[in-house]
This record gives sequence, C-alpha cells and structure tokens, in this order.
Amino acid sequence: LTSVRYPDLKRGNYATVTDKDVALFERILPGAARVITDPSELEGANTDWIKNCRGASQLLLKPKTTEDVSAILKVCHERNLAVVPQGGNTGLVGGSVPVFDEVIISTQQMNQITSFDSLSGILVCQAGCILGNLDNYVSEHNYTMPLDLGAKGSCHIGGNLATNAGGVRLLRYGSLHGSVLGLEAVLANGEVLDCLSSLRKDNTGYDVKQIFIGSEGTLGIITKAAILCPQKPEAVNLAFLGVESFSKVLEVFRATKRSLAEILSAYEFMDTETMKVATDNLKLNNPVSDHPYYILIETSGSNSSHDEEKLNQFLETMMESGLVLDGTVAAEKTKIDYIWSIRERIAEGLLHDGYCYKYDVSLPLENFYDLVTDMRTRVGDKATRVVGYGHVGDGNLHLNVTSPQYDTDVMNLIEPFIYDWVSQYKGSISAEHGLGFKKRQFIYHSKSRSAVKVMKNMKTIFDPKGILNPYKTLPDE
Ligand code: FAD
Ligand code: MLT
Ligand code: ZN
Repeated sequence: LTSVRYPDLKRGNYATVTDKDVALFERILPGAARVITDPSELEGANTDWIKNCRGASQLLLKPKTTEDVSAILKVCHERNLAVVPQGGNTGLVGGSVPVFDEVIISTQQMNQITSFDSLSGILVCQAGCILGNLDNYVSEHNYTMPLDLGAKGSCHIGGNLATNAGGVRLLRYGSLHGSVLGLEAVLANGEVLDCLSSLRKDNTGYDVKQIFIGSEGTLGIITKAAILCPQKPEAVNLAFLGVESFSKVLEVFRATKRSLAEILSAYEFMDTETMKVATDNLKLNNPVSDHPYYILIETSGSNSSHDEEKLNQFLETMMESGLVLDGTVAAEKTKIDYIWSIRERIAEGLLHDGYCYKYDVSLPLENFYDLVTDMRTRVGDKATRVVGYGHVGDGNLHLNVTSPQYDTDVMNLIEPFIYDWVSQYKGSISAEHGLGFKKRQFIYHSKSRSAVKVMKNMKTIFDPKGILNPYKTLPDE
C-alpha cells in the first residue's frame, strides 16, 4: 500500500481520543459494533478504495439516527476532536478517510427509507442508504434513481450528495443540484439543520441545501435527503460502436443528439488502451472488433419497439456513412448489463496494474482527447499505461495512468502538468470526483481567488473550529 502524503502537512491542533471519550460514545451508541476501536476492524475504514491514502484513526463510530450524529458532534465540538464523515468509502480523492487520527463517523447503519410518494416520485431516506438498494426499491414503484455509477453497490446516497457525484445518467437527468429537493444535516456543533423540504418549487430565500451538495463533509454531516426520482423507462436499448478517431466520437455525438434526441440517456467513450484493461485485466470480451475508440450509447424511453427501431436505423445510417466501423445493439438485459460492465468496471480493472494515478477533468470537447495524447508522450514508457475514457457527452474525461507501484518520477511528470494543461483551456481539474485530500491544493487552477475566499468564509461560519473533515477541499495558504 502506497500513501500519497504531503510530507510537510502538520496535524491540526485537535485533541486526541481518550478512554473517557470512548466510554461516552459507548453510552451515546449502545449495542454491539457501533463504537469500533479494534485496529484490524479500523483498517478498511482508514484506507480509501483506490489505495492511494491511508489514515490512522483509532475510533470508528456508527450512528443510526440524526440524534446520534448530533450527540456525537456535540461531544467532538466541545472536546475539539476532528472527524471525517464516511459513507461507502468509494470516493476517489482521499476525502473519505482520515489523514491523521480523525474520528470516523460512518453512515453505514443509517439505512432507512423514510417515505416514498408513488405519484410525485419523491423519495426521502437516510444518508446511509446504498444507491443500488434505493434504485431497487424505487424501481418496484416504476421509478429510477436520477444517478447511476459503477460504485452503486456500495456507495451511500449521503456520500453521493456530499461529492455531488455525476455518473452515467447525468446527461439525461442533470446533476444532483436539480434532483435533490431537500436535505437534513448536522452542523459541527451538533445543531440539526432542517432543509428537508420535498417541494418541487420553493423560492423562499437562499437555497441553503445546495451548499451541502459537493461540500465533501466539510460543512456538516448529511443525515437525510429528499430526492426527485424520474419515471423508470419502459425500454432501455444500448449500442456499442467502434470508430477510427476521436473526432469521429464527436461527430457521432452530434448525430446521436439529432437522431435520438429525447430518448438518449448516456453517451460514454473509451479508447483502445482502456478496452485492453477490460479484456486483459478483467477478462471481459470486446463485443465488437478492435478499433481505436469505442462509444456506448444508451437510450431510455417508453416504447420498446419504437426505440429499438430508431436505434437500429441510426446505426445503419452511421455504418453506411462510414462514421461507425463496427457496432452491436442490445435490447435484452443480460447483454445490456454485460456491455455496461465493460464500461463501469474500468476503475476496478486499472487497479490490477498496481498503482493508479486518477484524474477526472472537464474540458471543451475540441481539446478533450489531446490531453491523453500529450500525457502519453510525456510519461512514455515510465508508465504501464495511459488511458482515456468517460462521460464525453458531459465534457468529462477520465484520464488514468498506471504503474506497478507508486513512483515519484511518474507523479512529477503528471502533476502539475495536467492541472496547468486543464487550466489553459479553462476546464475543471475535478469534474465529478471532488477535491478531497488529493486535489485541494490545485483548486486555484479552476476557481478564482475571490470564489475560494467566499468558500473559506462559509467554512468559518459553519465550522468555526474546523473539526469537520480537516485537510480536505479547501487549500492551505
Ligand atoms: P465516501 O467515499 O464515503 O465519501 C465521499 C466524500 O463525502 C468524503 O469527503 C466524505 O467525507 C463525504 N461524506 C460521505 N458521507 C457523508 C455524509 N453523510 N455527510 C457529509 N459528508 C459525507 N463518482 C462520480 O461522480 N461518477 C462516477 O461515475 C463514479 N463512478 C465510480 C465508480 C467506482 C467503481 C468507484 C469506486 C467510484 C466512483 N465514483 C464516481 C466516485 C465516488 O464519488 C462515488 O462512488 C460516490 O459518490 C461516493 O459515495 P460514498 O458513499 O462511497 O462516499
Ligand atoms: C467512472 O466514470 O468510471 C468513474 O468516475 C470512476 C473512474 O473515474 O474511474
Ligand atoms: Zn465518472
């Protein structure tokens, strides 16, 4: 396990957990396995999914209710104990694990659905509900969750909100800033902030809940959310295509938007190096013949034969025009799931190479893939591979470099080069994964000094002692 650490980072002036604190938390959280101090049990919660970051917390707490979280934070605030909120621990920027010995507050046991309105599609639930479980639940009522991502089997809705996660359906349903109607959070001093409205329209002053979406656990612990779920599509169809250049990926996107318009629900791409991760590392089969670039198009609509016909016709036109060299369509669930797994398991497949340097940027589409080409030239054979894939329909590129283990030379070739490159095209250095621990010092590449100043002022208002997820999101001066 390699840690990405800033060697000159100093632990904040926080208290350390005492036996007396542990005894108090045991009184707040009675019952088995809710106050964890055993180092072997803490190991998983101290380590992030991608194994880039590891903390040294000696205490993991598992509240069940908002009142539990409030009582925990009251103690932490009074005692000046730093905390890190943790959901499914699938975050990719080191935000969900402690840097030093912060107390880990997990939402694992906060997994109750409060209500679901089958007419409006509004779901109210606790923050620790697993995204995939919520999707299964609402689908029984003919609804679907407005976001979908590869980690759905373990990520929590609270973690999704705290990250403002994007995923593969953002193209269709928009960001969580639109789908979240309300939320409840506990502030640093234990006060419960009730913004749990579940109205579509509510212009009564500032929309306070929005500040928590994407705040990465630095402003409060989200305990509940009200989410507007779209109707579950009756028909889902998929096309997987091979094309010869990145400019063709963009040309097909233009044609897709025109021809598939209202039924388009995802437009993803991957390069041939990425496909090798799926075939070599995960032993999955490429559903078409080998090409430099691949496109995954998903349609979701209400009429299966209409959508299928539309997609088949579109594919035929694309192949006749020579834009698309090879393609396959899928209407049955097993084939759809298989093709989606090729795309969604890339993050997992990359870990088979050893160490993964993960980047997630927004770029104008005309410059989009040049970054991958430039990075390949720059790192040369020092890396195992440089891959480009992602949510091209949203202007979001995932650029990943791998090597057998963490290598400072490779890192120095990548950073700050990549951030300067993105900044030059006025892109974002984090499109959907957040800044967390790993990217916060580069915030100025994408945000103005004036905006960061406002962020810091907001942090002071919400968390004057700085106990909530220190060393995350905001940069050190
Ligand atoms: P965690 O990792 O536990 O936490 C993430 C951040 O939120 C941390 O800063 C944490 O402190 C904070 N936090 C967690 N819960 C709370 C809470 N209740 N209140 C306040 N703060 C909290 N992201 C995308 O945007 N799009 C993708 O397509 C995507 N795909 C992924 C695929 C895989 C295989 C993996 C491993 C990750 C992927 N991610 C993606 C990254 C990640 O953002 C999401 O998995 C998810 O949003 C994180 O949720 P989580 O519950 O695991 O949060
Ligand atoms: C994805 O789209 O696959 C996720 O954001 C994870 C990743 O970037 O690897
Ligand atoms: Zn993604």
